[in-house]
Amino acid sequence: MRILSTFIVFLILVLHSCTKDSEIPNSWTYNPTPYLLEFPDEFPQMQIELANPLTVEGVQLGRRLYYDQLLHPAGMHACSECHLQQSSFSSSAEVLPHINLGWNSTFLWNGKISGTLEDIMQFEVDDFFHADMNRLEQDSLYPRLFFEAFGTETITSTYTARALAQFLRTVISSNARYDNVFLPGSGEFPTEEEQNGYDIFFSEKGDCFHCHGGILFTDNNFHNNGLDTQPSPIGRSAITGNPNDLGKFKSPTLRNIALTGPYMHDGRYTTLEEVIDFYSEGLKISPTIDPLMKQAHKGGIHLTGKEKSDLLAFLHTLTDTTFITNPAFNSPF
Ligand code: HEC
Ligand code: HEC
Repeated sequence: MRILSTFIVFLILVLHSCTKDSEIPNSWTYNPTPYLLEFPDEFPQMQIELANPLTVEGVQLGRRLYYDQLLHPAGMHACSECHLQQSSFSSSAEVLPHINLGWNSTFLWNGKISGTLEDIMQFEVDDFFHADMNRLEQDSLYPRLFFEAFGTETITSTYTARALAQFLRTVISSNARYDNVFLPGSGEFPTEEEQNGYDIFFSEKGDCFHCHGGILFTDNNFHNNGLDTQPSPIGRSAITGNPNDLGKFKSPTLRNIALTGPYMHDGRYTTLEEVIDFYSEGLKISPTIDPLMKQAHKGGIHLTGKEKSDLLAFLHTLTDTTFITNPAFNSPF
């Protein structure tokens, strides 16, 4: 076991001067417990909004909201319907996973939302779900849960977004086989195939690390990785209006990649084998293709059959089964 460092969030919980009028039952208390976020030393510091420190009550509320159809104005959808834990909180084509999002600063395939988790959650609650706060206000439980988490008597989409952001900051994957066999300290070691795959991934041979590198396996940036000769207009350029951004999409994290197919923004590849074939010999040249796709003029990095299966074995080391079975992330209902 590797030693987890405890990242202590120093909280200054400004206690709201809550005038105890008749609206608030005496049994309700606002005395939230700080939530201690834990992740390995190798991970960067996580930015936490000063206005939204993690508390046990806030995280639990966010988790409940994530799984609750009541958040939807017609009561028909929950976040968890498309973001399934067993698929790293992804599901069918195009659905981006929820994994280590606390380190993200650009969200959605085209980066339409940039900023904090609070910003993307506000977008999801207001603009995607058009959530109706009256439904939560009229519920028998939520007014109390919001009070206990935020000391608020009025449920707003801002507090709803804050609770969801708190929950998603805890949705951390740091216990893949990769973390045990490739980082020091566990006494476990990769197989020969996995090591070869690692060498391809992190060297000029495969060049994957330029965009999917680091402990988070994403550079949080936008690239045209050579999918089409006519680069897609629905990518980054749809947001920036810049023709140089045609065909650019966010580099997805490759953590839990074996669980999140189909692949690419349009789900065009069903399997990781197909993705590897694409990078090996299926690259398409277009005016905005990323200069990091150095072998594009040759159609790709041209791996042998053995190299392809080694790279695949490496990608499988990024699967974290403790993440998809973690009871702290599953439905509270
Ligand atoms: C009907 C399916 C569906 C539901 C329900 C759903 N999502 Fe999503 N979610 C998606 C899809 C598809 C994407 C990718 C869309 C894009 O990038 O344009 C996505 C992307 C996201 C992202 C961006 C992740 C990243 O890496 O950039 C976040 C965060 C997110 N959803 C949160 C939520 C929350 C919170 C809810 C509930 C309020 C929710 N989603 C409900 C389908 C869904
Ligand atoms: C120039 C940056 C860049 C390089 C280099 C690169 N990728 Fe990607 N990768 C991306 C981008 C951007 C996407 C998303 C593209 C899209 O959907 O349009 C992506 C998508 C993927 C996906 C699908 C992810 C998903 O969730 O759908 C996999 C798997 C993947 N890359 C693996 C690799 C491997 C393996 C290598 C090395 C052989 C590699 N990538 C090299 C930028 C890059």
